[in-house]
Amino acid sequence: MSKVVRSAVTGVGGYLPDRLVSNEELSTRVDTTDEWIRERTGIRQRYQAADDQPVSDLATEAARRALAAAGRTPADVDLIIVATTTPDLTFPAVAAIVQRKLGCPVGIAFDVQAVCSGFVYALSVADGFVARNRSKCALVIGAETMTRLMDWTDRTTCVLFGDGAGAVVLEPCEGEGTTADRGLLGFALRADGTKQDLLYVDGGVSTNGQVGHLRMQGNQVFRHAVVNISEAVTAAAADAGIEVASVDWFIPHQANQRILEGVAKRLGIDEAKVISTVAIHANTSAASIPLALAQGVGDGRIKPGDLLLLEAMGGGLTWGACVLRL
Ligand code: UT7
Repeated sequence: MSKVVRSAVTGVGGYLPDRLVSNEELSTRVDTTDEWIRERTGIRQRYQAADDQPVSDLATEAARRALAAAGRTPADVDLIIVATTTPDLTFPAVAAIVQRKLGCPVGIAFDVQAVCSGFVYALSVADGFVARNRSKCALVIGAETMTRLMDWTDRTTCVLFGDGAGAVVLEPCEGEGTTADRGLLGFALRADGTKQDLLYVDGGVSTNGQVGHLRMQGNQVFRHAVVNISEAVTAAAADAGIEVASVDWFIPHQANQRILEGVAKRLGIDEAKVISTVAIHANTSAASIPLALAQGVGDGRIKPGDLLLLEAMGGGLTWGACVLRL
């Protein structure tokens, strides 16, 4: 088999802001209870960025941790992609701000906007650089301050989201062209713009000039999630040439424990293989997969050589999945 270049994850890092907001605290602000939130979503708490802490600060800290884990420094980084839907400013891109804050040399830096699916989309974009040897050291970051988009009078959404960031370092790695190779092995990305009304923000630069608030028909999104995600996972597994049953760890977007379990069940994935962090940080949109990955690697469950299956779904609607070997 001829040699191929793969994009290998060589370091992961996560960052959550200091301020913890419990379900109990939210129940003093809106008509909800800890019991309702835990039973319907699995969420116990979320973290909220300080008023003077823009998303680039969260992204920069997660990136620092991922670089340290990879044994790299900012001087090595030639590509930064940030998946976010809550940028510091309309422009420049958060990626360019992170580049400045880290002190990276002039290179490539831009953002990807696919809401909760952003990290999976960003990985596939980065793969286009790294697996062609056009980047030697890339940072792919999912970072969000979703609490800034909340309508704090709407109990159907404000209890579901939190702030945070996660990052991975991607480096080119020679493989044999088999599924035993280290690196990104397969993808499936999807979008269906006709479902916009199910999940969107009611503000924007070229509509009303406002930041806006997140609006969601939760039970409709829920219905689409399990079916759509399962299809994308099956397609990504086929793209990678692996069986879903052969994955070591399933690392889903962390929106709702019931969705995680529903997708795992539909795909026949053992519950013990599911990394779940939704209880700790709620739905952090594009940050949730790298945060869960950082948790699984950090606590020693996920080991080098393990086969990982990532999936996400969010506004757009967008959804997608990725298979990689660590
Ligand atoms: O990351 C992007 C993707 N997003 C998602 O994946 C989210 C998908 N959706 C979900 O996770 C769930 O649909 C929710 C957690 C949002 C809602 O759970 P549900 O089981 O689908 O509940 P529901 O929307 O059907 O609402 C059931 C009841 C309603 O009351 P009535 O009409 O039955 O009297 C709601 O008003 O629960 C009520 N409710 C609440 N009650 C207490 C809604 N939010 C709350 C709340 N506290 N926070």
